[in-house]
Amino acid sequence: MTYLAKADRYTDMIYRRCGNSGLKLSALSLGLWHNFGGVDVYENYRAILQLAFDRGITHFDLANNYGPPPGSAEENFGRILHQDFKNYRDELIISTKAGYTMWDGPYGDWGSKKYLVSSLDQSLKRMNLDYVDIFYHHRPDPETPLEETMGALDLIVRQGKALYIGLSNYETPEFEKAISILDDLGTPCIIHQPKYSMFERWVEDSLLDSLEKNQVGCIPFSPLAQGLLTNKYLNGIPSDSRLAKEHGFLNEQYATAEKIEKVKQLNEIAEERGQTLAQMAIAWLLKDDRVTSVLVGASKPTQLADSLKALDNIIFEENELRAIEGILA
Ligand SMILES: NC(=O)c1ccc[n+]([C@@H]2O[C@H](COP(=O)([O-])OP(=O)(O)OC[C@H]3O[C@@H](n4cnc5c(N)ncnc54)[C@H](OP(=O)(O)O)[C@@H]3O)[C@@H](O)[C@H]2O)c1
Repeated sequence: MTYLAKADRYTDMIYRRCGNSGLKLSALSLGLWHNFGGVDVYENYRAILQLAFDRGITHFDLANNYGPPPGSAEENFGRILHQDFKNYRDELIISTKAGYTMWDGPYGDWGSKKYLVSSLDQSLKRMNLDYVDIFYHHRPDPETPLEETMGALDLIVRQGKALYIGLSNYETPEFEKAISILDDLGTPCIIHQPKYSMFERWVEDSLLDSLEKNQVGCIPFSPLAQGLLTNKYLNGIPSDSRLAKEHGFLNEQYATAEKIEKVKQLNEIAEERGQTLAQMAIAWLLKDDRVTSVLVGASKPTQLADSLKALDNIIFEENELRAIEGILA
């Protein structure tokens, strides 16, 4: 069936400016790490993408290695892009990344110029695109000089293969060194993608302050702690959950009894707020306006529809915040 985007798709979404750039991002972005690979069901992920766009999500986040198998999420996204979203390319912000293992040998990993340039060329081919909107270095490389990695990102922008540059998983000192090199090159970093949720708060130590000071946007990934910060695991491990699947990066060591107890208590606060726990976990991140967009995953359209409702209430009373801190402590 031919897809026609909903005419009112921009009415209910919040758009936030990404740092000091000209770019605004939808307050929710959709990540394609899981559920869009070769092992997944086409009709399901196509429906998730259509729902996202119909509800004002403009930003879709990929990486070279998303799948499994690696590369298949980009291929699948590219196929749907050309089938359903061809007429909407200028309404979309598509990101991809390189930095983790992608192919054999010494040039398929980390942060050399050789790897980053070749990897983005491969990603563009897989998605059948001329350019991506944001290209990220996925993780810092302890061996390659930062000047080389940042130089490769600058080159990629000058070649027109990416419009903007982002960094992911960089801790504050190396982030600050990297953005200073990028500034000198004339290609500013506009966004940082860290892991950040109620269960993972390292960014609060200094990264968020640094992002604010340097006017760089922030897009937290795994905001639901891969599904733990939802009502999904309240009564055991469902067979269709990420935790139960063989592929993927969530296993039982993350879902300790202590964590599930905290999830139960957080769920009570969410219910008092009239939200699901997923909605509260997203709102809790968006209450901070240094957060540009929250990068969620979804394995079903109904999950994304649930998460989108977080935007109905992103304000917290002092007593709610205190109660949440008490549980997380
Ligand atoms: N830069 C990096 O290093 C990095 C690393 C990881 C992720 N990311 C990016 O961040 C994106 C999001 O990561 P993530 O998938 O871990 O995010 P997440 O939003 O924390 O977890 C998504 C999972 O939570 C469950 N879920 C989602 N919405 C739900 C709802 N409303 N109710 C109940 N369960 C719900 C689903 O799990 P089930 O599958 O169990 O149903 C879904 O697959 C990725 O796709 C990727 O783009 C980046």
